[in-house]
Formats: sequence, structure tokens, C-alpha cells
Amino acid sequence: MVNILKREIVITADGSSTIRLCEEDECYHSVNGALAESLHIFIYNGLKRFLAERESFGIPMPEYINILEVGLGTGLNCVLSAIESSKYNKLHFNYIALEKYPVTADELKSLNYENFLGSDYNSALKKIHSTTWGVKESILPNFTLTKIECDIKDLEGVALKKIIPDIDVVYFDAFSPNIQPELWSREIFEGIFSIMSRRAILITYSCRGSVKSALREAGFTVKRLKGPLGKRHITLATRPDTFLASFCL
Ligand SMILES: C[S@@+](CC[C@H](N)C(=O)[O-])C[C@H]1O[C@@H](n2cnc3c(N)ncnc32)[C@H](O)[C@@H]1O
Repeated sequence: MVNILKREIVITADGSSTIRLCEEDECYHSVNGALAESLHIFIYNGLKRFLAERESFGIPMPEYINILEVGLGTGLNCVLSAIESSKYNKLHFNYIALEKYPVTADELKSLNYENFLGSDYNSALKKIHSTTWGVKESILPNFTLTKIECDIKDLEGVALKKIIPDIDVVYFDAFSPNIQPELWSREIFEGIFSIMSRRAILITYSCRGSVKSALREAGFTVKRLKGPLGKRHITLATRPDTFLASFCL
């Protein structure tokens, strides 16, 4: 059982902050750089890869892209995705974030992402945290967010399908398999697989063998990609019918 109550804010190597679970010695992001890690894994190798691949295979840009994040936490991945959305005119980003243990107002005040984001995006980050749970709300002109306060374990299979539409990109950003092995299971990944669109991808920071096996058992094709500073590899999982990136290792 994770002790979520004792938490502190720490500064990572690129100057951006993160939250640390004191008893578990587990951080929400890499101590080698929270911002750098989020950008490398979820934005460059998740969102941008999905969009770039469509382009390189000549698949017309959809009107909507549905992103699911498991573990909203500080909202860093969410706000970076919102920033990406502002580069597109005709593409609407529909972001759904699951979170079991929302960060507190005091923690939000102590995080320093405002030093790295422009003022428009600072207000987007504030909005991300102030929107009502369970309600789809607009964060930027073509970016909407639905936050769901829940345990991903309670959303297996049919329950997940009912509330979440066809997902194109999954950011799987739960705590590590060291402390939450039950979340990196075949059952959880099967549930996610069942709500993914045909060319969808799942990106995660863990490249542990047991995680890759659980993903394969759930039906995914699994590739390893180069990790951010301090981490050799990360994992890209796709439906077998997804075109696979030429940039894979
Ligand atoms: C490694 S942190 C990632 C945080 C986040 N993506 C960010 O950018 O700050 C893991 C997140 O997963 C959340 N989480 C842990 N167990 C969960 C569960 N069973 N269901 C949903 N969210 C969970 C945690 O509260 C935490 O916010």
C-alpha cells in the first residue's frame, strides 16, 4: 500500500519541481529533470509521434484527438499537451485524465512550472486544476479536459468503455511498478487496449520486462525507445494494426 500522505516538493536537475513520496522515495517525475522528462516521453515520443506518423503515412489529420492520461498529478503532461494544441488550427484535443490522489492546493502553489511556461499557459495550468471533476471543460480554444477522480483499477473493461471514447494516445504515468505493481498488469492494459482507436499508441516511462510482458499479453506490440537523461529506454506500445514509427530502436 502506497503511503501517499507524506509528500514534499523537490527541485529536479533542470530546475523544474516535482513531488516526492517521502516514505517510498518515489518522485512524480525524474530527478534528472521533470520538465525534460515530460517533454521527452509524453510530448515528443507520445503525442508528436502519433501526429507525425499520421502525416508521414499520408493519413488525413482527424478533427479530434483523444488523449488519456493515467495519473494527472501536477498537471505537467496536461499543460504541455495544451501548449502543443495551440500549434494546430483545425485539430481539437480532448484530454481525459484519471487521478486517485489529487494534489493539494498548497502543493500546487509550491510547484514552479510558472517559471517555464508563458503567462497564457500559466493560466491554462491554473484552469487544469480548478476545473470541476467529472465535467468536460475548455482549457484553451481547441483543448478540453475531463478530469476523473477515480482508481484506474475500478475502471477495468466495460466500465472504462462506457465513460471514455476511442483513445488515440495514452500517457501511462502511474507510480512505478516497484510500488504499484498491480497497476502495471495485463488486466489494466487489456482495459486500456479495449478503448484504443485503430492507430492508437501508449507511451510510458517504464521499460521493465514484466511491464512489457503484461502489455504483450494484453495484445499490444511493444517497442523500446531511447529514454530521457538518466534513463536508457522507455516503452512505446501500439495496437498491432498501428503503423510503427521508423524512429524506434
Ligand atoms: C508518477 S505520478 C505522475 C504524475 C503526473 N503525470 C504529473 O505529470 O505530475 C503518478 C500519478 O498517478 C496517480 N495514481 C496513483 N495510483 C492511481 C490509481 N490507482 N488510479 C489513478 N491514478 C493513480 C498518482 O496520484 C500520481 O498523480
